[in-house]
Amino acid sequence: MKSSAIAHSNIALIKYWGNWDKVSPKLNIPLNDSVSMTKYGFSESIHLQTHTTIEFSEDFKENEAILNNNPLKGRDMERILKIINPLRNLKKIDYKFKMMSFNDFPTQAGLASSAAGFAALTIAAAKALSLDLTQEELSTYARLGSGSAARSIHGGFVYWYQGISHETSYAEKICGSYDFDINAIIAIIDEGKKDVTSDLGHELAKTSIFNPIRIKKSHEQAVEIKAAILNDDFKKVGMIAEKNCMFMHSVMMTSEPALFYWSPITLKVIKKVLYLRKSENLDCFFTIDAGPNVHCLCRPEIIEYVQNILENIEGIEKTILVRPANDSYTTNEHLF
Ligand code: DP6
Repeated sequence: MKSSAIAHSNIALIKYWGNWDKVSPKLNIPLNDSVSMTKYGFSESIHLQTHTTIEFSEDFKENEAILNNNPLKGRDMERILKIINPLRNLKKIDYKFKMMSFNDFPTQAGLASSAAGFAALTIAAAKALSLDLTQEELSTYARLGSGSAARSIHGGFVYWYQGISHETSYAEKICGSYDFDINAIIAIIDEGKKDVTSDLGHELAKTSIFNPIRIKKSHEQAVEIKAAILNDDFKKVGMIAEKNCMFMHSVMMTSEPALFYWSPITLKVIKKVLYLRKSENLDCFFTIDAGPNVHCLCRPEIIEYVQNILENIEGIEKTILVRPANDSYTTNEHLF
């Protein structure tokens, strides 16, 4: 009962921010549909992926989880159990497990490390338990660990339906990694852990007076961006993604207490992207998750040119080039 899987992180083009209170907040049912691109880093050794091995055995005395050589406890272990417990129930066993995981990128720095991590864990655990689940069903279990992990079950471009229950809040593939030609440059400003976790941020979303309008617009934008992706309309995808990102950050900044994930360098990158669009007529757009780092979306033809410009901004630690990733997969390469 041992299996391994590799999953990739994703960048939200339409953001998930805040959970629906009408159902248990523990289920991570979002306030709106969201859309993402699963991403594969191709510039160096950082592929933005998590490799996870899990084994269940009658002989294990305790549950054990290790991430990047560090044992996981407390809240981290609780989030793992949110996925493992229902999967063990499905199989009708209560064996303890051993899990080992490696991220090849900074953990909890707004690069969606938990999305890749919980997606890989779900896929590996379902296989180890010989559960025959569809990709959509897998996405509902990954969602229990971290909302955005629901989307990382799939490669390419992904639509996560808000839903009204555990079963109906699932992620579905819009199209594959080769169906829409888009790349991104991640401008890394700070690789450290974020000050305010997304969990707390989701809680605070409802304290912003702008949240109701963000929710309404996000639903519309999710449908629009899906159509634009399928029509290969890069400019429209970029414009919608950028606007939706600003809606989320407006909500963050007007929460009580206010949340500021940006650093002064974040704003420098935003201004540079706007300048490139206006003065050099380049189709590039920005989007930012819950952290200071900026994803600059562009077509592959100009990625190196834009990368060079962003790397020259003072305060940029480094850049990572990404393209759409293929599906997550199981592997026979076990970590223990
Ligand atoms: C801003 O609760 O999925 O990235 O568990 O910290 O990875 P982590 O976050 P999660 O919230 C993600 C929030 C977001 C937007 C998004 O990915 O949709």
